[in-house]
Amino acid sequence: MTHKILLTGGAGYIGSHTYVELAAAGYEIVILDNFSNARPDVLDRLEIITDAPVTSYRGDVRDRALLDTIFAEHEIAAVVHFAALKAVGESGRMPLEYIQTNVGGLLTLLEAMMAASVWRLVFSSSATVYGDPEKLPIREDAQRSYTNTYAFTKLASEQILEQLAAADARWAFGTLRYFNPVGAHDSGLIGEDPNGIPNNLMPFIAKVATGELEKLSIFGDDYNTPDGTGVRDYIHVVDLAKGHVQSLGKLIETGAGHTVNLGTGTGYSVLEMVRAYERACGHELAYQIAPRRDGDIAACYADPRLAGEVLGFEAHRDLDDMCRTSWNWVSRRRNG
Ligand code: NAD
Ligand code: UFG
Repeated sequence: MTHKILLTGGAGYIGSHTYVELAAAGYEIVILDNFSNARPDVLDRLEIITDAPVTSYRGDVRDRALLDTIFAEHEIAAVVHFAALKAVGESGRMPLEYIQTNVGGLLTLLEAMMAASVWRLVFSSSATVYGDPEKLPIREDAQRSYTNTYAFTKLASEQILEQLAAADARWAFGTLRYFNPVGAHDSGLIGEDPNGIPNNLMPFIAKVATGELEKLSIFGDDYNTPDGTGVRDYIHVVDLAKGHVQSLGKLIETGAGHTVNLGTGTGYSVLEMVRAYERACGHELAYQIAPRRDGDIAACYADPRLAGEVLGFEAHRDLDDMCRTSWNWVSRRRNG
């Protein structure tokens, strides 16, 4: 039987890659996106990659009437909820917008799901719910905390889902804690495309590689890490997307909720990322050492075993593949 899935934020970076993997797995998909952080031509690109028309609604996940229309027009088996605001720095300047979109959006979606008797949801959580981890690698049962408003919205969302699941056994949630998604689809047609100056490392390095930005500032080289720069668990976005297919499969087939890390288990430093990207683009990248960024932690990487046990998840793509596909995407984009 073909299941139909609603993807909120399906035109975004992770959502668009997940669309492709869900389509390949035989799901029918409906996208809801307000394009606040995506370009409408992503939908055309998804049609090229999947060689099939895309069904989409342009609108806000907080628009209850629109959600009711979507659930009335489509027999939705489950929802994957990506739609959210995600810039950590901005979240401190605009806390109400972040809480309203990320927590308010989730609540409106859950209400509409309940009214339509749709009980399965995959939720985009984040390693940021671990705050400054006490132990590495990070296991799912580590203590949770938050150090910024964005992280607060993810932790609050996780807790809301836990309350619902405890109150009513019909709910089944796949809470996926992403580590650092990078890279792009092999086609070079979709990838991360932030507006303005990127906040995150990989898109920033990519713009230095294309010449759009002059040099990278490395935020601190005096952390307690092998080379002094920050260490993160970078995971290829296509591996991450496949994790959603596995999570949905589990929810639909067994109704069993789960909360898992999606990472590789390996940490790379900022300098290692720069060197890897240099190999991919074929030239040196300029950088300078700058002061630490407020709120940053020294190191963060997953213990990925639970996702392996519960979902059969395993990340296959290595750092060179992450950089190669990113470079393919940004250089094609630059050349139109
Ligand atoms: P993204 O910004 O590329 O995608 C989010 C999509 O949601 C965009 O297409 C945007 O237009 C849409 N959107 C935003 N607000 C909306 C609203 N109110 N109504 C409808 N659509 C709306 O971000 P992404 O990197 O693809 O992240 C997807 C999810 O994963 C987010 O929930 C994010 O918090 C979470 N996450 C991302 C990362 C990361 O590093 N990229 C890490 C951990 C968790
Ligand atoms: N960094 C630089 N220079 C830059 C940007 C980043 O040196 O211009 C460094 C950071 O200091 C950090 C590393 O590169 O050591 C990674 O930084 P990112 O901003 O790419 O990623 P973070 O780990 O800080 O945060 C990201 C997302 C969060 C998410 C978290 C865990 O921004 O939303 O991963 O998933 F919660």
